[in-house]
Amino acid sequence: MQTLVVHTLYRASSTVFFGAHLPDDTFFACAAFDAEMFYLSADVPLLNRRGARVRDRFAATVADFLREHWMESEGGGFLDGGASDTTSAAIRSMKSAGLTEDEVSRILVLILWGVHSNMLLVALWTMIYLVADPSAYTRVCDAIRAAYPGVSPSTFTLIDNFTDGYKTLVPFGGGLFMCKGREFALRIIETFFIMFMQMYDVADCGYAVPAKRNGSVSMVKPKTIPSIKVRRR
Ligand code: HEM
Repeated sequence: MQTLVVHTLYRASSTVFFGAHLPDDTFFACAAFDAEMFYLSADVPLLNRRGARVRDRFAATVADFLREHWMESEGGGFLDGGASDTTSAAIRSMKSAGLTEDEVSRILVLILWGVHSNMLLVALWTMIYLVADPSAYTRVCDAIRAAYPGVSPSTFTLIDNFTDGYKTLVPFGGGLFMCKGREFALRIIETFFIMFMQMYDVADCGYAVPAKRNGSVSMVKPKTIPSIKVRRR
């Protein structure tokens, strides 16, 4: 399930921002960085050392990627491979502000982590909750397949087919500082599940979600990640 949900979504979403050439190593680096984030952000002496090493390696991978895929041009340069213009514009302004390659890479590391940490965990929990409750899974699956009856599993245009009025999956905060990536996160997660349910059937994996939980699904990591059997429809 980790590979199916987390890795697939990382690939899809990081490609939107950074283009098709962002190395897969960044996925593993991002996961390792996330695991160390508590000690790093709290700056816990000694315990933050491993996190600092993970962060340095992650930044070095991003720096290598930038050296290879940043194209200098008259307009100040851009990331190749279909990266978002917004990402290129952000890198251009960092460079024109005089930031070093290392500083730019470290900021991009934070952006990669910030975009993905909550989103991937919420998607993982969504899948865990769905497969742990076959009746819920069937209801969601039936609703999705009924809503998009004409869409062939091989059609990759579902992102244009959303109905309005979806409820949010998770709290995104509120007021001035409300999550700025919420539309993106919902769209990525919804697109994944719509495409997944159009393409695959899932066998009941007999997984039981812990009965008592009081943590947010964007913060708490599952103790174990179940395996699921999927079959192409
Ligand atoms: C399901 C996934 C996500 C969840 C649950 C989530 C949740 C949150 C929460 C609770 C906050 C703090 C809001 C507050 O202080 O009131 C926040 C802030 C923020 N989020 Fe997200 N987020 C998610 C995905 C994303 C993504 C994908 C991005 C970027 C593409 C993003 C960008 C941001 C930014 C930039 C802020 C700071 C906003 C500000 O201070 O003005 N988030 N998020």
